Amino acid sequence: MKHLIDPMDLSRQETDEIITLAQDIIAHRERYQGSMSHRKLATLFYEPSTRTRLSFTSAMMELGGNVLGFSDAKSTSVSKGETVQDTVRVVGCFSEIIAMRHHIEGAQLYATEVSKVPIINAGDGSHSHPTQTLTDLLTIKRELGHIEGITIGFCGDLRFGRTVHSLIKALTRYSDIKIVLIAPDELKLPDYIKHDICDKCGMSYREVATMEEVMPELDILYMTRVQKERFLDEDEFDRVKDCFVLDTAKMALAKEKMAVLHPLPRVNEILTEVDNDPRAAYFRQVENGKFVREALMVKLLEWENDPAHGMPSRGEPILDSSLRCPNSKCICNCEHAPGKFRRTDDGILRCWYCDHKVK
Ligand code: NCD
Repeated sequence: MKHLIDPMDLSRQETDEIITLAQDIIAHRERYQGSMSHRKLATLFYEPSTRTRLSFTSAMMELGGNVLGFSDAKSTSVSKGETVQDTVRVVGCFSEIIAMRHHIEGAQLYATEVSKVPIINAGDGSHSHPTQTLTDLLTIKRELGHIEGITIGFCGDLRFGRTVHSLIKALTRYSDIKIVLIAPDELKLPDYIKHDICDKCGMSYREVATMEEVMPELDILYMTRVQKERFLDEDEFDRVKDCFVLDTAKMALAKEKMAVLHPLPRVNEILTEVDNDPRAAYFRQVENGKFVREALMVKLLEWENDPAHGMPSRGEPILDSSLRCPNSKCICNCEHAPGKFRRTDDGILRCWYCDHKVK
């Protein structure tokens, strides 16, 4: 069965198929209106969300299907201690597909081990957010006409920003991408993305200290919010919260055809004075998110029983109960998931569920 937990669960060809279908839905919305009639999507949101949850809901409604679920786990059996796996087993009896957001990293991957319906990861902690990635790829394609060969600057919270992690992973599938990382020391991109993803795929990246020095080279500027809720130390958050702010003066340095993306919500990292600039693509990006989620659900249900579209191998798991994942926000430290690990090509042991390095 095909789930979408990590952007690499989709091959380049499958990703292209979803983006092409999303473009066709945009061009011929009426053709798809009944395509999900009598089908049900369950949205299980254990963490706050506006765009992602409503975008899934709206996408399913546009296709003529129905939606059930919760946006606050406190009102469900989770408050009685039900595990993610049990909840998914139950909800799989009521729906054909599940979109799940969780503050615990790896929760959705763990859920796939028992699910009888496809699961879509709608964000797990600061780890991954593959449907935002599809949204971002479609937006880049629509704004610039192509994805290959772009220079993209990621700015802000690259440490906790799951949308950044997932998009960088997906971009390794495209040729000649140049990545520029703009972040304070405290919010730099996690090592596993730099080493296991960028270095391994030979994708070029460089780190810079100011936005001004790179603005003229960028085709895409990907702004992000500093993720307050992921900080363990409030003083640290206060030190970095206003680190990079996009304003019209900085926009004046950029290419005429650059596009500004932001997964939203924005706090103060893009001043509202930028919103009327034709290069501000972040509200168009929101709408693209709905179309790409329509395309994703159509494809996942089409591929559900097709052996040609299974899950890619994540390698051979190493089961070792004497080892523990050091990430307190990983599913294996929250729900007694077994200690399960993988060894990377350069010999590093990482948690199976959340990718943290294990000592
Ligand atoms: C992002 C998220 O939830 O990770 N938003 C989204 O899904 N559109 C980014 C964020 O919360 O800052």
